[in-house]
Amino acid sequence: MKFYQMSAAARRAALVESGALTAADAAVLAAAPGLTPAVADSLIENQLGQFTLPLGLARDLRVNGRVYQVPMVTEEPSVIAAASNGARLAALSGGVHVETRPHRVTGEVVFDGVADRTAAAALITARMADLQAVAAAAHPSIVRRGGGLETVTVSTPGRFLKLSLQVDPQAAMGANIVNTIAEAVAAAVGQWLGQPALVAILTNASPQVTTATVTLTAATLATRDVDGETIAARIGALSDLAECDVDRAVTHNKGIMNGIDAAVLASGNDTRAVEAGAQAYAAHTGIYRPLAVWRQTTQGDLTGTLRLPLQVGVVGGAISALPLAQVTKRLGGYTDVATLQAVLAALGLVQNLAALRALAGPGIQAGHMALQARSLAIAAGARDTEIAAVAARLQAVPKDLAHAQAIVAELRKDDAQ
Ligand code: MEV
Repeated sequence: MKFYQMSAAARRAALVESGALTAADAAVLAAAPGLTPAVADSLIENQLGQFTLPLGLARDLRVNGRVYQVPMVTEEPSVIAAASNGARLAALSGGVHVETRPHRVTGEVVFDGVADRTAAAALITARMADLQAVAAAAHPSIVRRGGGLETVTVSTPGRFLKLSLQVDPQAAMGANIVNTIAEAVAAAVGQWLGQPALVAILTNASPQVTTATVTLTAATLATRDVDGETIAARIGALSDLAECDVDRAVTHNKGIMNGIDAAVLASGNDTRAVEAGAQAYAAHTGIYRPLAVWRQTTQGDLTGTLRLPLQVGVVGGAISALPLAQVTKRLGGYTDVATLQAVLAALGLVQNLAALRALAGPGIQAGHMALQARSLAIAAGARDTEIAAVAARLQAVPKDLAHAQAIVAELRKDDAQ
């Protein structure tokens, strides 16, 4: 039986059997635990309840020669199916190759109304050693772990004076570390300049771009009705379209983020930080562009390349506080930041591949609607075993709420007889 056809319990057992999941983690997943009231109330302000989403697994994503099982949290029925499908296609041609850059996060400290910005910049530049000491005193533990403030550069955007603090946050995402250092630096420089800083905060923009590449043999891309060479050519054309049509580029990138956001959320990281960085990078040339592009090689194969910054961590914040984030970290094999970044970038690329292949072949709705049937059944009021029964009957009729409700009523009438 295929993984997607198994019950959730059988899937967990299979993962334990293969060594991908520990028995203890399988038990945590099986218990479908909510957060304890104390953890839920401590994580956010004004907590009222809990909002649950399904956690699933994209299977067998081959990245830099290793195979990963990627936990994903999403409400969109087709996302994990597409990710697994993209991963399968990529693996047929050797998998995805990813290069990461050293994980660094930048803080900015900005002053407004500095009368002589040239003199101020010279003063700051002359006191770099003092800034290092201020930063180290503000966050001694990151220095002990081998990280902390590395460089400070001074610039003058518009009417402002700005310090860019490049920080090595080690295994953490870095927001809290950078913000702590930025505020301490702001206080010190504010004293030197005799005026308070306007702002001290990290930027979610990043030049530390992760690059994922895959080269696919055209024949592996064939769909039931269209040959692989034609699909490869159409995927290339869809990529060209995204490069000159912003409307298409936005949706192209949405498909990439379908995968990345779901895996970032499952990992306990900040999805908005990753989104903000990715969308800013998409527009960094001044024109909004596709994050991934696809080109046919002279042999007719297809090469895809995805580039984006990924500000994530593997310790700290919600990652340490959320029990399920600990389970997904082990299941995903996220031993360090570079591994998580590599898996996320590879996932985004294969997610894009699966979407473009569907668009180039049968179109998106056939697969989408087959998977949407269960959501529609639930929306129509189906419960427990009714969900699969209604979804099955929906395959033969137009998939809309009215038909789903009629089928639920029919089923209940049959049961009552
Ligand atoms: C749907 O969630 C995502 C797609 O629209 C992405 C795309 O069009 O490339 C299928």
